[in-house]
Amino acid sequence: MFRIGGGDAESAHEWTLRRLAWLSRRPTVLAALRRRYAVSAPTTVFGLRFPNPVGLAAGMDKDGLALPAWPALGFGFVEVGTVTRHPQPGNERPRLFRLPASKALINRMGFNNQGAQALADRLAASGPLRVPLGISLGKSKVTPLEDAVADYLASYRVLRQYGDYFAVNVSSPNTPGLRALQDRDHLEALLTALVGEKPILVKIAPDLTDHAIADALQVCLDRGAAGVIATNTTLRRDGLSPADAARAEQAGGLSGRPLTERARQVVAFVHKETGGKLPIIGVGGIMDPDDAARMRDAGASLVQLYTGFVYRGPGLVRRVAQGWRG
Ligand SMILES: Cc1cc2nc3c(=O)[nH]c(=O)nc-3n(C[C@H](O)[C@H](O)[C@H](O)COP(=O)(O)O)c2cc1C
Repeated sequence: MFRIGGGDAESAHEWTLRRLAWLSRRPTVLAALRRRYAVSAPTTVFGLRFPNPVGLAAGMDKDGLALPAWPALGFGFVEVGTVTRHPQPGNERPRLFRLPASKALINRMGFNNQGAQALADRLAASGPLRVPLGISLGKSKVTPLEDAVADYLASYRVLRQYGDYFAVNVSSPNTPGLRALQDRDHLEALLTALVGEKPILVKIAPDLTDHAIADALQVCLDRGAAGVIATNTTLRRDGLSPADAARAEQAGGLSGRPLTERARQVVAFVHKETGGKLPIIGVGGIMDPDDAARMRDAGASLVQLYTGFVYRGPGLVRRVAQGWRG
């Protein structure tokens, strides 16, 4: 698949999504995949029952184009989005880059998505999923930061009935100003508006200081957030192979192997700081079952995959789910 589209990573991604959307409409193919990949390792977290703890991370299927395919490939939950109130094209292409020697990706997609209403229409038509569905919400690029709460709230209202949980994405590095929403005052306003009916989780950046994370956690606890998703991609460029030096210059968020250790540190910090009171979804650089086990030991109740899935495929989902109980 890496050769598709003359090697352009996003073309390969689009091709894959089209194939998965196609097979999503074929029950016999889905059943065959399920026999091969589905693993039962049930767990209950923030009041939801997960058939296994391995989820698809946000950004892979932003518009929910291939929903039935993900559980068939073994995922125990799916996070769609990030979607925004207004449909938007995202940044100019190319905006997704492979760094294969480092088992990493750099992306600056910029929340390309069809908008909250289009996702709601698709979810209304497709009916319930076999696994819990998370919906990641972000701020529209055209909306000024001071109107962010209304923007998130508009998306939430349109989608509320379809999501089992909602992720407040305040940590993408690719929307100017977005990460300022991790600040105490902004986050407080956001959570005050959103917390209530459905579990609300906050997705944080790995580039925050311990002090800033502690502040955000206090707000999460005070305002009744259901959990934390740690982490999003990093702006740092540590741990890259010299073979990827040229690509390393690309602007955007880095994911995959170079993020493994930092994401785990953040999970451990969140766990310690909250005394285990806030459930954590661990994400970032889980490239093999050992990485997932270490996330679990650091305090994660669930994990998500993105870059590991790109490099290793659905076999990784199965192996992580099978290995989870140690
Ligand atoms: C191409 C790409 C697009 C992404 N889009 C989103 C997004 O829309 N919302 C979000 O919260 N995270 C997004 N992420 C971040 C992932 O969900 C995940 O937090 C991050 O990649 C670290 O996990 P990984 O090392 O397993 O990839 C994206 C990541 C990639 C590589």
